[in-house]
Amino acid sequence: MRSSALAPLLAAFALTLAKPQRPLFSNTTTLPTHFGLLVFPHFQALDVFGPIDVLNNLNMMYNTTADLTILAKTLDPVTTGMTGSHFAERIVPTMTFDDYLNKDSSYSYGDAKRSDIEVLIVPGGGGTRNNVSAEIDFVKTMYPKVRWLVSICTGATIVARAGVLDGRNATTNKFSWTWATSTGPNVNWIPTARWVEDGNIFSSSGVSAGIDATYGWVSRVFGEDAAQYLADAAEYNREKDPHVDPFGKLWEVPGAT
Ligand SMILES: *[C@@H]1O[C@H](CO)[C@@H](O)[C@H](O)[C@H]1NC(C)=O
Ligand SMILES: *[C@@H]1O[C@H](CO)[C@@H](O)[C@H](O)[C@H]1NC(C)=O
Ligand SMILES: *[C@@H]1O[C@H](CO)[C@@H](O)[C@H](O)[C@H]1NC(C)=O
Ligand SMILES: *[C@@H]1O[C@H](CO)[C@@H](O)[C@H](O)[C@H]1NC(C)=O
Repeated sequence: MRSSALAPLLAAFALTLAKPQRPLFSNTTTLPTHFGLLVFPHFQALDVFGPIDVLNNLNMMYNTTADLTILAKTLDPVTTGMTGSHFAERIVPTMTFDDYLNKDSSYSYGDAKRSDIEVLIVPGGGGTRNNVSAEIDFVKTMYPKVRWLVSICTGATIVARAGVLDGRNATTNKFSWTWATSTGPNVNWIPTARWVEDGNIFSSSGVSAGIDATYGWVSRVFGEDAAQYLADAAEYNREKDPHVDPFGKLWEVPGAT
């Protein structure tokens, strides 16, 4: 059957069932096409795979041509586990920090020429308490070059130590609040927030909050209808209000309401 013959049938079907239809992006001003994900040993799995799954679906369901580069200090598989832990998973980086920063204009991956990274995602996890000086330096160098920076959980401590959050509003994991906020004495840490948006920096609260922050970011950049469609497709109950956060009080974060 030709698609022209199919169209009225599909339209009638949609009316009968009132099933959500994939909405167009409401914002089409040069959308980001290259995402960078920073990883380090003992990263928190959900900090990475929650947000990345949202972005996987965004790029799959809208069939975009966007790229993802997974960046680490070396190309060795990067574990979610503590040193010596048997209960862990590994992710394979596609480029080192140094190789990305030293790439030339013919920079490519496989046979595809790639644009520069526009969105940098910085997860957290127990490894943020180890030596992350290479990760801090990378964020410091990259921040002026990207359009958006998204931190999840204690990933904000890497961004804070890069100096990027000075004078800005941000949030981080409420369970690790005292240590995490000590890494950024000049940051206006928000004690009651699922996530915080300050200019081109999104920072989320602990672990699962990264999923809500990512839908919030998709809503900001691609449009709310698209964000809600993706959440509905993933059968995810979003927290859409960044100010709704029961965990600050639960973990006795000073100033939390
Ligand atoms: C997705 O887009 C590519 C071109 O960028 C095209 O070749 C492919 O057929 C599209 N796939 C679907 C399922 O629309
Ligand atoms: C931390 O890591 C950096 C580079 O990754 C290294 O140069 C430095 O010596 C390390 N610092 C300590 C205290 O191990
Ligand atoms: C930063 O947070 C303060 C509250 O602490 C708020 O009044 C201000 O509007 C926020 N600024 C931005 C840029 O979000
Ligand atoms: C549209 O997207 C651009 C580029 O990502 C962003 O800077 C801008 O804030 C968005 N506009 C709106 C109205 O959300």
